[in-house]
Amino acid sequence: TLQAVSAKKGSPFMFGSTYDTYDSNASFMSNVFSTFFNHVVAENGCKWDATEPSRGTSDLTECKAVQSFASSHGASFRGHNTFWHAQTPSWLPGGISASDLVNNVIPQHVQQEIQGMGSSVSSWDVVNEVVGDGVSNGMSALQCVQNKKAWPTQTSDNSNTALVTDLSFIHSAFSTALKYAGSNTRLAINDYNTGAQDAKTACVFAVLADINANAGVPYNRLAVGFQSHVSSTGFASKAALVANFAKLANLGAAALITELDISIPSSSSGNERLQAAIWGDYLDACLYASNCHEFINWDSRDDMSWLGTSNAGTLFDSNGNPKPAAYEVAARL
Ligand code: XIL
Repeated sequence: TLQAVSAKKGSPFMFGSTYDTYDSNASFMSNVFSTFFNHVVAENGCKWDATEPSRGTSDLTECKAVQSFASSHGASFRGHNTFWHAQTPSWLPGGISASDLVNNVIPQHVQQEIQGMGSSVSSWDVVNEVVGDGVSNGMSALQCVQNKKAWPTQTSDNSNTALVTDLSFIHSAFSTALKYAGSNTRLAINDYNTGAQDAKTACVFAVLADINANAGVPYNRLAVGFQSHVSSTGFASKAALVANFAKLANLGAAALITELDISIPSSSSGNERLQAAIWGDYLDACLYASNCHEFINWDSRDDMSWLGTSNAGTLFDSNGNPKPAAYEVAARL
């Protein structure tokens, strides 16, 4: 059915989930990626701490193993991520200077990883979670990023935000990515709590425009990744998603669903029906958008979810059985 959907859309529709070689439930994982999914992202294996163990040293062992798992299951592969304030390597000092970061550390890492993984990667999250949560309407791209108070230092280190005096760290990541990525690879800014028509989404769009204008990346190479870690009670609306995807389509940029999970208060059948309906809304918003070709479900089973089993936020239950959301999705594909 994914082949039929792809034929209708005129390009492959990539629908998948997370995988790392050290995941449990090997036979479930192998089965689900051969039958239900056709797209793979490493949950952790391509992050900075996993790929640059000491400064200037590239180790793509796990990232490439996930890419091989994808190809041996007939699936495509997306890259997550080259730059994030979390899961950074221990050698990266909190007190690093802005110029060292922008001129040396970031371009070296982005080049090593993107060049090393080759040209067949569908999209890369070039920067992850650079926009703040306390943003308001009308902020400039720089204000949006300064509001984050996490980069370019270590996780939760708010002391060094003065380093973000301009957006050169983002420009450096994107211009390097453009140089070394395959010509069909989309270059994404990826973030959570986006998709509603609110200040945070407006900020992501402002940063996208800034990247286009100041890092020289054409819109037809850019994408916005909507992480979409949502709860059944906090879902904005399908209409908002549709409107946001259309704005990007008008620019020539892609929209990606990169990390969907939908937490429910408890797994009663009523909550599972609601969860299924929201999953259907997300899928429809993407399926019927001209610029949405990638859809990742973050973790495939409740017992393997980063949110814990009790949030019941994935498509398959803790025994690997399909939940109503999985049937909903299958019916729409
Ligand atoms: C999470 C993984 O699922 C966990 O296994 C890990 O311990 C922490 O990171 N936003 C992101 C993802 O961009 O990389 C995060 O993944 C979830 C939130």
